[in-house]
Amino acid sequence: MNTDFLRAQTPACQNLIHFNNAGASLSPQPVTDALFEHLLLEQRIGGYEAGEVTLDAQENFYHAFGRLLNCNPREIAYIENATRAWTLLLQALPLAHGDRIITGQSEYASNYMTLLHLAKTRDIRIDVIPNNSDGQICLKTLSDRIDEDVRLIALTHVPSQSGVIHPAAEVGKIARKHRIFYLLDACQSAGQIDLNVDDIGCDMLTGSGRKYLRGPRGTGFMYVRQSTQDFLEPPSVDLHSASWTRKDSYTFRDDARRFENWEHFVAGKIALGAAVDYACDLGMPAIEDRTCTLAALLREKLRQLPGVLVHDQGQRLSGIVTFSCDGQDASAVHKALRQHHINTSIARHQTNLLDFSSRNLPDINRASVHYYNTEQEVDTFCQVLSAQR
Ligand SMILES: Cc1ncc(COP(=O)(O)O)c(C=O)c1O
Repeated sequence: MNTDFLRAQTPACQNLIHFNNAGASLSPQPVTDALFEHLLLEQRIGGYEAGEVTLDAQENFYHAFGRLLNCNPREIAYIENATRAWTLLLQALPLAHGDRIITGQSEYASNYMTLLHLAKTRDIRIDVIPNNSDGQICLKTLSDRIDEDVRLIALTHVPSQSGVIHPAAEVGKIARKHRIFYLLDACQSAGQIDLNVDDIGCDMLTGSGRKYLRGPRGTGFMYVRQSTQDFLEPPSVDLHSASWTRKDSYTFRDDARRFENWEHFVAGKIALGAAVDYACDLGMPAIEDRTCTLAALLREKLRQLPGVLVHDQGQRLSGIVTFSCDGQDASAVHKALRQHHINTSIARHQTNLLDFSSRNLPDINRASVHYYNTEQEVDTFCQVLSAQR
């Protein structure tokens, strides 16, 4: 990987250290170019007319994700963000009174609240599987809790508030064995971990564009396995997701686009397709390797700083590094780093109630690296942090 070249294509690298890739990463120049080109075309010739002449670039979105996830382009839909994609799929599942959904301790706040909403409105029961002492979802407890009422396993692959990579493929084996629907939130793993939906064994997978994929904000996607699509009833319909066949009937499309809206952010979709191509051209195994290696280096250096505690647990760790500085409020640390042009974020107790209550954690700091960050930046980060103490 030619880091100098990749950084030259990421102009902000000259001015700041961006360790907030789990929030939103920096887009490379070709992605920003694709976005602007389409917006300028809309300005020049009109929105609908620009849409007509860029059909190939729009179609590329589906092919790019097919390559990223090892699936058929017909199994991909463009959705404006990960939460929306996840909610649409949950609403589409054939769930009824008394059904159980199994989820994990590290679940993302909006995902878990959507489950709570579903429990309230459809009388569904939710079962949270705790993490084991390694910090990963306990596969034995998961297997033990399965009975004939369990209809869905809904899991976050890489949580936003800790470095763990949950064993998604092992969970997939359990879901397949018991013929249970399996929905994976890949919001933090897409673009940082090499994903293959067949190896994982999931029926559905969701994510957003702005995080490790380096796409624009306000973009996202979903994957729905072809054989699962017929079991799902999309919660809404429009003239793109379905055809109005007779006066009193309509038919949904026979691909994942049945979950899309006709009106959407066309420039964002084209640019996200370009971002996925960019990642695939670099090679996902190389991206994963560099990102996880850099994060391991950061953890190692942080552990050497007096009074700094690293909180990541797990057999397999991602580019997300969580830590706290003894005696210092997470907001103060975040702010001090920002004053030195270092972007990080905060993982808050209130938005991670299940996980942080069981680990007895307050708000903590999060530094999330990507392949375009450098060892030098890791050193500078630790020096600045150390000087604050
Ligand atoms: C693990 C995880 N899932 C889902 C989401 C929600 O993504 P979005 O804001 O695109 O809806 C996030 C956002 O941070 C996340 O970290």
